[in-house]
Amino acid sequence: MTSTDSAQQPAARDPWDLPDVSDLVVGVLGGTGDQGRGLAYRLARAGQKVIIGSRAAERARTAAGELGHGVEGAENAECARRSDVVIVAVPWDGHAKTLESLRDELTGKLVVDCVNPLGFDKKGAYALKPDEGSAAEQAAALLPESRVAAAFHHLSAVLLQDPEIGEIDTDVMVLGEERADVEIVQALAGRIAGMRGVFAGRLRNAHQVESLVANLISVNRRYKAHAGLRVTDV
Ligand SMILES: NC(=O)c1ccc[n+]([C@@H]2O[C@H](COP(=O)([O-])OP(=O)(O)OC[C@H]3O[C@@H](n4cnc5c(N)ncnc54)[C@H](OP(=O)(O)O)[C@@H]3O)[C@@H](O)[C@H]2O)c1
Repeated sequence: MTSTDSAQQPAARDPWDLPDVSDLVVGVLGGTGDQGRGLAYRLARAGQKVIIGSRAAERARTAAGELGHGVEGAENAECARRSDVVIVAVPWDGHAKTLESLRDELTGKLVVDCVNPLGFDKKGAYALKPDEGSAAEQAAALLPESRVAAAFHHLSAVLLQDPEIGEIDTDVMVLGEERADVEIVQALAGRIAGMRGVFAGRLRNAHQVESLVANLISVNRRYKAHAGLRVTDV
């Protein structure tokens, strides 16, 4: 490359140069459940301001009080309104209805979907295939005025909620359309001790990431484990 070429080429960006997200307020819809509580606990323990949401404000306030670390509780709509980043941690059954009902409150927000559409039968867990392709793509279709990303699918809520565990040994695959949004979510994941957020593609590839949880459930059952994932060589 000549010196003229290098003057014209922007320097390659360091993919680990992530933004400071410490001032962002994180909301968790369905934050009274295992996954929501676990994420809220870990993020708040790392110093993030967190508001957990519920269909019933009182349930959210009770759960928030149990979590400590300054976590607040509110009805889902208020949680969405007051947050910069909103994690969706409701069951797949309630996903579409919850997001449709919060479209106004979620306008302009960074919405992070961690929902795994799964079915269970006597052979174990299996992946469902949403009409839109994935839960994350359903969120993007229902929330055209929001910025939708997907992450936190492969975490064990048991480990997240255990105060005796200092570090969670896992990577978090982060998917999204806008690099700036993906990097915010990577940075949030990176605030939790032991975790890294790793970019894993656009939302059209969310189905595989959501589905992989069915495999992890099989691993957990066979080995009596709370398995996590590491992406090597990055
Ligand atoms: N558990 C895990 O280890 C794990 C790991 C990764 C990802 N996830 C994903 O995270 C999501 C939540 O998992 P979870 O185990 O925490 O589920 P959960 O406990 O069954 O549900 C979470 C919360 O969602 C609310 N909720 C229940 N039914 C609802 C409905 N029909 N519409 C709206 N809200 C409803 C409830 O809160 P209120 O009654 O207070 O509103 C509940 O506490 C799931 O989509 C799952 O795939 C879970």
